[in-house]
Amino acid sequence: MSTLESILKETRSFPPSDDFRHKATVSGMEAYNALCEQADDSYLSFWGDLARELITWKKPFSRVLDDSNAPFFKWFDDGVLNVSYNCLDRHLPLNANKIALIFEADDGEVTRVTYSELHRRVCQFANGLKSLGIAKGDRVVIYMPMVIEAIVAMQACARIGAIHSVVFGGFSAGAVRDRVQDAGAKLVITANEGLRGGKTVPLKATVDEAMALEGCESVQNVVVYQRTNGGAQWTEGRDIWWHKLVEGQAEACEPEWMLADDPLFILYTSGSTGKPKGIQHSSAGYLLGAINSFRWAFDYKPNDVYWCTADVGWITGHSYICYGPLGIGATQVVFEGVPTYPDAGRFWRMIEQHKVSIFYTAPTAIRSLIKLGNDLPKQYDLSSLRLLGTVGEPINPEAWMWYYEVVGGGRCPIVDTWWQTETGSAMIAPIPGAVPTKPGSCTLPLPGIIADIVDESGAQVEPGRGGFLVIKKPFPSLVRTIWNDPDRFKKTYFPDEFNGQYYLAGDSANRDENGYFWIMGRIDDVLNVSGHRLGTMEIESALVANPLVAEAAVVGKPHEVKGEAVVAFVVLKGARPEGDDAKKIAAELKNWVAHEIGKIAQPDDIRFGENLPKTRSGKIMRRLLRSIAKGEEITQDVSTLENPQILGQLQNPL
Ligand code: PRX
Repeated sequence: MSTLESILKETRSFPPSDDFRHKATVSGMEAYNALCEQADDSYLSFWGDLARELITWKKPFSRVLDDSNAPFFKWFDDGVLNVSYNCLDRHLPLNANKIALIFEADDGEVTRVTYSELHRRVCQFANGLKSLGIAKGDRVVIYMPMVIEAIVAMQACARIGAIHSVVFGGFSAGAVRDRVQDAGAKLVITANEGLRGGKTVPLKATVDEAMALEGCESVQNVVVYQRTNGGAQWTEGRDIWWHKLVEGQAEACEPEWMLADDPLFILYTSGSTGKPKGIQHSSAGYLLGAINSFRWAFDYKPNDVYWCTADVGWITGHSYICYGPLGIGATQVVFEGVPTYPDAGRFWRMIEQHKVSIFYTAPTAIRSLIKLGNDLPKQYDLSSLRLLGTVGEPINPEAWMWYYEVVGGGRCPIVDTWWQTETGSAMIAPIPGAVPTKPGSCTLPLPGIIADIVDESGAQVEPGRGGFLVIKKPFPSLVRTIWNDPDRFKKTYFPDEFNGQYYLAGDSANRDENGYFWIMGRIDDVLNVSGHRLGTMEIESALVANPLVAEAAVVGKPHEVKGEAVVAFVVLKGARPEGDDAKKIAAELKNWVAHEIGKIAQPDDIRFGENLPKTRSGKIMRRLLRSIAKGEEITQDVSTLENPQILGQLQNPL
């Protein structure tokens, strides 16, 4: 049975236990429905009240929403605040000694950082940034391992009003260059090396390689955190050690007071063209989304120990490590390493040791751990857990049930959170003390999120009939624009087909008779490999940049652990290779993609043809390629194909 069929036949439903419901912040469906009604009745005061309750303002806002220049919405626009102040300073009067971060390094060493210590570190680093001439509005690229300093760097930027753009540490020099160039970054913050699974990651060397490429002229300095004893090549006058920069800096730093819609950060994500999009988020609206969804979706309580296994290089690490949990004053575990090092019990041992109560991870991690059997989690005391979350891709019901039973002991609600880089915070997710969960469904929208499923004309579709997932009203944490490309923002997210009224998420979804949402996958040429979003065009551009390659088409195919795997159909400039020759060139091209974009984009499967299947008008038939990649029998009509004979060449993996 295909995943789609198994999902649509899923009938199991898991209401919260009485005990969980009684203690929950939002307790029972009546409470959930009341919040939704409040949002329906008075949408603006619903969000306005939350913004007043959850954010500390330097100067209050007088207007909730300015939609005069839709879809470039502004929220709380004359309000003044600072995000870092909200994440740190305001907790100090009562919680200065509360642990903010429990950092576990790759080698198992644990460092605890209180809110007052984190505040001190952020202020000193912020002063260091200022001493380099970084000021409000400047762009700073952060290319760091998952260490405390990555969070300090982000918070320090927020403190002085600089706009950070975090680039995932697995991306290549070319990807760093593209992001530096598009953002016009003045500064890059990195580490000499990262440490993951006992291996070093050459971050500084990659930055050096990027800086040598055309397009990085805007960068004046590179700040280098010394994570390992390994050295680093040094460019005098440009490179500065982190520890030297903070030496002697004052332990206080007056926050830069920002307007609510001043950009907090840019985060690049893949779309349907070769060029990643700089998703620009605001200060107040974004922070509100992160904090509010954190307390609702995770039913946060002040004595929780929360752990999100994401990397700060992705939106999940922004909203649910750096900003949401700190904004609310939570204690969280931050992990540098990987789930399988030094052994596959790492996650479970850490949950036991740190008494984690809320655990948030990706389906791909769950699936890779399932393969190792039920015995491993059972060797650890996981009784501290009270809630489990997932994010990033659809979770298959089998993995959901394993997570629920083997990890959660049948007692922890599973919060499947659907959202995106663009939405900034969780949109569709069960409020765990209220909404019964179903394996494989992200359930119902959070109150205030008006999600729907529509057809091409924008009309709502019947339950059971798939369609486009849209959000019908603007909400505070929504992307404000694409950096440097407002036209693309408008066309991509508020297309004319829906009269520019709806936010088009780019996913297809289905709804069951209970109104539950089931996400089916992307409607554009975006793949989701291990929860990482990759544009097929980006990988195609990387492939055709190789001197051997004439043409390439990239599609996804289902993969047991990764969710999706990359398949590339390639036409070489020379003859079509066969046998060992083909294998050798395929290996070369895989390395090439890893070098051009990063290992995460490496094709699993490369197939060579003398040509690609095209219509008579020259269009590549991608649907056909998707079927071929999956190994499906070809049932499509191929009579319009210019060159049907090449199908045979593409059917088998090497
Ligand atoms: O296709 C959806 C999938 O991930 C896409 C967003 O990717 P990104 O911007 O990298 O953000 C990932 C972390 C929020 C979505 O368009 N996706 C995300 N969460 C889920 C999901 N698909 C199904 N279920 C989810 N819970």
